Amino acid sequence: MSKAAELEDFALYGGPVKAEVILDGKEVVNYGGCSYLGLTGHPVAEAAATKALEQYGLAASIARAYGVANPVLLELEQVAARFFGTEAAFCAAAGYLASPLAISALTDTNTRLYVDQVCHHSLVFGAQATGQPIERYTHNLGWDDPEALRDFVLQTLRPGEKPLFAMDGITGLLGDISPVPEFVRLADEFDGIVYVDDAHAVGVLGDNGRGTAEYFGIDSDRVCFGATFSKALGGLGGVIFGPEHFVARARSSAMARGSNLGSIPHAAAAIALMEHLMADKAPIQKLHRNIRVFKTLLQELGVSLPAFPTSISSFAFGSYDDHAAMQRNLLQDHGIFLCHSNYTGAGPEGLIRIAVFADHSDDHLDHLIRALTPYLSK
Ligand SMILES: Cc1ncc(COP(=O)(O)O)c(C=O)c1O
Repeated sequence: MSKAAELEDFALYGGPVKAEVILDGKEVVNYGGCSYLGLTGHPVAEAAATKALEQYGLAASIARAYGVANPVLLELEQVAARFFGTEAAFCAAAGYLASPLAISALTDTNTRLYVDQVCHHSLVFGAQATGQPIERYTHNLGWDDPEALRDFVLQTLRPGEKPLFAMDGITGLLGDISPVPEFVRLADEFDGIVYVDDAHAVGVLGDNGRGTAEYFGIDSDRVCFGATFSKALGGLGGVIFGPEHFVARARSSAMARGSNLGSIPHAAAAIALMEHLMADKAPIQKLHRNIRVFKTLLQELGVSLPAFPTSISSFAFGSYDDHAAMQRNLLQDHGIFLCHSNYTGAGPEGLIRIAVFADHSDDHLDHLIRALTPYLSK
């Protein structure tokens, strides 16, 4: 099948996307996507969304710059700031918009942007939209050779310029964690800012699921984060969080003044899920446990993985066609859905990406390991 035809070839979901999902009418164990905490379709979120829908209907509100605001979105920002333990938070209509909104708000006419070579397209898009000069730094250079990263900044930053470093907290396909503390050091040295898209880290890293800041213990007023409610938090919508002086810039940015800030039922669902998680850490603890168990089992099969406690395990074992065949066969023969992806960070053969969720059982994980064994022990 051609790659173009593959893009047109998809199975249809028949219910919420969790560890068990209906695909083309059949029950399948799902390792694709990002429902890390298994909260999609959670009753507290559905009830909150239904109530908001009944009260406000489906229509979105206009931008706040016109002097009106929806109280659910304002509450979302307060609850998000509490959830993330930051001074402030600000919402965006989609996770994809969080990075362009934050990056444009944090960029001045003397900013030089340093964007990870392997990051989500929304960061690249946001950086390009500023019209300011952009450098692409080598992915993981901050882990492998921090001095080389510093030299790169020294060689490229012009007099009078300030750097803005932009990266994913967890890279969505590779599942590794960015060396954020290294960038905080560089931001301190060069009077810069660090922006982290924590879409894949929120709900996953840290005892409270706060993401890379909690994982590394970062407490710096030079760092601002963005994320989406569409992954671990099971809904839809973007969020920016960090020190008030950054969030205030996002609030008054041209993008925020020219767009509505989100779907009200989804905002209500996100509030309910964050409150739920602040009261009950069991989904986070279960996810951490599943990550440990699955990564150990996969390594015992000979797969080498970076030592990061992320939900995502990615590997290549053959050609593009081998990987595509594995994805097809596991679905047809074992009722297992996993992703073969050639998104940014993969070579031409692509990568097999497996995401473990909090609602996977030991039986699910054993079943997957048995299905993978013939491919990986060749
Ligand atoms: C790192 C990152 N940022 C932003 C997004 C966009 O989020 P959403 O799909 O909720 O708009 C994604 C989605 O894949 C992502 O992986």
